[in-house]
Amino acid sequence: MAMNAFDSKLFELRFERSRRDLFDMLERLYGRHPDYVEFRNRLEDTMRAAWSRRPRDLKWLDLKRDLEPDWFQRPDMVGYVFYIDRFAGDLSGVLSKLDYLEEIGANYVHFMPCLKPRPGDSDGGYSVMDYRAINPAYGTMRDFEKVAKALRNRGISLCVDMVLNHTAREHDWAKAARGGDTVKQDYYLIYGDRTLPDAYEKTLVEIFPDTSPGSFTFDETLQKWVWTTFNTHQWDLNWANPQVFLEIVDIMFYLANKGVDVLRLDAVAFMWKRMGTRCQSEPEVHMILQALRAACHIVCPAVIHLEEAIVSPQEMLPYLGRGAHDGKEGNLAYHNSLMVQFWSALAARDTALMSHVLRTHFPSVLRNATYATYIRCHDDIGWAITEQDAEAVGVTGPGHRSFLSDFYEGVFPGSFSRGALFGVNPETGDKRISGSFASLAGLEIALADGDAAATDNAVERIVMGHVLIAAYGGVPLIYMGDEIAMLNDYGYVEDPDHAHDSRWLHRPRMDWDTVERVRQGNDGSPEARVWHGVRHAMARRKATPELHAGYVIRVPESPAKGVFALVHEAPTGSLLCLFNFTETTVEVPGEWALAEGISSFHDALSDHPAKLKDGNVVLAAYGRVWLR
Ligand code: GLC
Repeated sequence: MAMNAFDSKLFELRFERSRRDLFDMLERLYGRHPDYVEFRNRLEDTMRAAWSRRPRDLKWLDLKRDLEPDWFQRPDMVGYVFYIDRFAGDLSGVLSKLDYLEEIGANYVHFMPCLKPRPGDSDGGYSVMDYRAINPAYGTMRDFEKVAKALRNRGISLCVDMVLNHTAREHDWAKAARGGDTVKQDYYLIYGDRTLPDAYEKTLVEIFPDTSPGSFTFDETLQKWVWTTFNTHQWDLNWANPQVFLEIVDIMFYLANKGVDVLRLDAVAFMWKRMGTRCQSEPEVHMILQALRAACHIVCPAVIHLEEAIVSPQEMLPYLGRGAHDGKEGNLAYHNSLMVQFWSALAARDTALMSHVLRTHFPSVLRNATYATYIRCHDDIGWAITEQDAEAVGVTGPGHRSFLSDFYEGVFPGSFSRGALFGVNPETGDKRISGSFASLAGLEIALADGDAAATDNAVERIVMGHVLIAAYGGVPLIYMGDEIAMLNDYGYVEDPDHAHDSRWLHRPRMDWDTVERVRQGNDGSPEARVWHGVRHAMARRKATPELHAGYVIRVPESPAKGVFALVHEAPTGSLLCLFNFTETTVEVPGEWALAEGISSFHDALSDHPAKLKDGNVVLAAYGRVWLR
């Protein structure tokens, strides 16, 4: 299809806008490659071709978002994350759930991996054998386009996983490589003997130490070692090869043109290898990501990038564009620290570490970027707490991390939680945790014990977690089933493809019967209280302009043990959010609250005056307020 004059002018303008962001990076990454000039030309052709194929309605969306570049930072953003089959059976089932999405306030949905995975165990779909096809169990690419359009018509944006670090061993490129195609062998990292793998492994960290130890896998066909950071069937791509960049960027355009709004770039930290390092978050990773961002900003500016890097705060922030990459890298990145600190503060009934970490490591404002805030997701929880941070509040790193694992596994005396271990590494002492929000927050044990007070506490913890992500700034992500307090799903052990992976404990099938019941009204059951609480939190978020992610945020010293405080400094005035992480009532001095910049004790969350006693703000067990 030929481009008309207006379209081609628009393309040239956008090309000029991002040319340097793109080529400065590519020059540094691939400039010394013998075929660099040809690579550049091919990339330009790829971009023009993708733009000329871009559907009209998406080109309008491009314009709209060029005019409203803060669209994803606005307080009306609320995300919902689900597996297509577990939520709705298949893609046509999703069409019948659109009202539900609106009912809970979602205007952003993340389809968990939906591209065609390898058969059998596919790491929950993260082992992709064809990036241009939909998982046949969910439907076809045509079905996908239909759903994307239906979502778009309701103003709901769509996030899809794009695994950048590896493909499935069954991907065509890997198959060709195994068949002797040397061009495709160069797409991966393949070694004739153990010399280099051994040398690399001296400093690599194992990701799945118990189920997939080491970072290399011997391939019987090739009789060689292949780099496999994650599972043995996930072959790491060789990003030092510019061909890989070309292939992937073309797939990104392809998905963008099918109606994807948010590309969730999976496992990005691992994309660049350097001997003698952990091969995580190397500077070249950020160059590649900036280049991918710039390429999309030219061809499909409606599309933004969510970069998945579950690492310490100092390592995570560059994914949102720091220093030379400021405003030019990920638009979204998971706020892993907020999630970890939520669980840490709940177990410890102490917010000192949380306040310290969120105050010292995170900037007051981000440019062209914000966080994806969440409490639970499909993955395990790793206790990413550094020694320095732990010591700053008087605990030790290893001590606190192992306390948290024990607490959430449920073996620490007095723990309210019921989780399961994941990724236990006896060498490092690392123990990660699986479990649903509700079970980790105490509901499973409370219900089993028939303990009404413990049930109340669990419900309040779950609602408070949702209020926290609604209030932090960024896009809050509700993880399917958490809004009705679904408990651990122990049935996963029956499935031979899942039994080895405890993360399936918190990947249940949606309980629509419960949804039907809670929709009828709040009958006082835990599920109904959580459902109404979550919906209310998201609705109030949308009604609170101070929560725009473009405004300055500040984390003051905690005003009382167990209370977390957060201030949004909006141009119209400050919003002080307070959260009580304990099961006892706490009073926060009113004088202190006023000194933090609020002008009244109106609670924007309940939309009522906050409860005061002797001039102090009263926070009930797990209570929360947003003071104006
Ligand atoms: C990401 C996914 C995780 C997966 C891994 C490997 O971390 O969230 O579920 O196992 O990448 O693809």
